[in-house]
Amino acid sequence: MPHTDLIFLGFGNVGQALARLLLRKRTTLEERCGITWRVVAIATGSHGAALDPAGIDLERALALAEAGHDMGALAARAVPQDRLELIRASGAHVLFENTPVNYESGQPAIDHIRTALQAGMHAITANKGPVVHAYQELSELARAQGRCFFFESAVMDGAPVFALWREALPAAELRAFRGVLNSTTNLILTLMEQGRSFDEAVAHAQSIGIAETDPSGDIQGWDAAIKVAALVTVLMGVPLKPNQVERRGIENLTLQDIEAARAAGRRWKLVCEAERTSPGVRARVHPQQVEPSDPLYQVMGTSSAVTFHSDVLGALSLVEDDPGPHTTAYGLLADFINALRQA
Ligand SMILES: NC(=O)c1ccc[n+]([C@@H]2O[C@H](COP(=O)([O-])OP(=O)(O)OC[C@H]3O[C@@H](n4cnc5c(N)ncnc54)[C@H](OP(=O)(O)O)[C@@H]3O)[C@@H](O)[C@H]2O)c1
Repeated sequence: MPHTDLIFLGFGNVGQALARLLLRKRTTLEERCGITWRVVAIATGSHGAALDPAGIDLERALALAEAGHDMGALAARAVPQDRLELIRASGAHVLFENTPVNYESGQPAIDHIRTALQAGMHAITANKGPVVHAYQELSELARAQGRCFFFESAVMDGAPVFALWREALPAAELRAFRGVLNSTTNLILTLMEQGRSFDEAVAHAQSIGIAETDPSGDIQGWDAAIKVAALVTVLMGVPLKPNQVERRGIENLTLQDIEAARAAGRRWKLVCEAERTSPGVRARVHPQQVEPSDPLYQVMGTSSAVTFHSDVLGALSLVEDDPGPHTTAYGLLADFINALRQA
């Protein structure tokens, strides 16, 4: 079987974790799935790009990335400066798009994915932007091209949320869902329960690489809102943008609020929820006090959880303990295998 050629756009936490996982699973992929692969191109934002149709030495690429060096050292031939030209020139079969999320427009990831699909590649991403801003266009294009546009890791990292509905729940109708979908805020609330101040909790979340240098996207509920919008758009079939989700973050919660809830036997959670209504869908992100009997009460630290309510199964929950780039990488790997199986 010929190699499946891969191009990576974005080689940060997630791209590198995927590279490590691909290397670790090389034999399993070959023996169990009949998949052999090589990486023919890697592009970053400010750390250069490499193109080698014979296959890039991925161990070396990881060493360069970990040392903060430029990917240009790996290039076997001239690399087009324009990222869309690079995608076309790579001749790859699969694009992994893992560039930073753009909440407002989804760009430039949408252009990257559109270009890959037009060139006959499968497009796989952990980036939520293209899902909420171009789901319909990109999935129609993928269908027309006989390729897959998959994004399992965009919500709940590697937990199989989208594949669950796509593969395991045919003809089911999602009526509502409720969950904790943002790791940073859940960790901050957990640390505040342990007596840390809001600022100390944010600083800790940053120090372990969970929160961004500017954590406002998490704290103000934007990350949770874009995930809610992605679930509503894909699983409920109602296109929804992040700014259409009613949103309140955790920025106004004080240690006194946390302590008062604890004294009453409750916990604060940044709850994400959506339900069908007669005109469409009501979607919300808001801090809520939950009782011990609530499934979200035990979701602590960076963990996340969601309960789906459908017309056929009642309540069905997924809980993910301690996610990180390694679990995000698994969602991308699963999408890769599933895309090749379906093609
Ligand atoms: N971290 C997680 O666990 C996680 C979980 C779920 C989903 N995600 C999503 O996965 C994506 C990647 O996250 P991450 O944590 O890996 O981010 P990251 O560490 O900041 O890495 C982003 C990568 O994209 C590159 N890049 C930036 N602009 C680019 C462009 N125009 N063209 C090509 N490459 C570009 C960056 O290069 P430079 O460093 O040179 O700028 C870097 O290599 C994001 O959309 C994120 O929301 C992440």
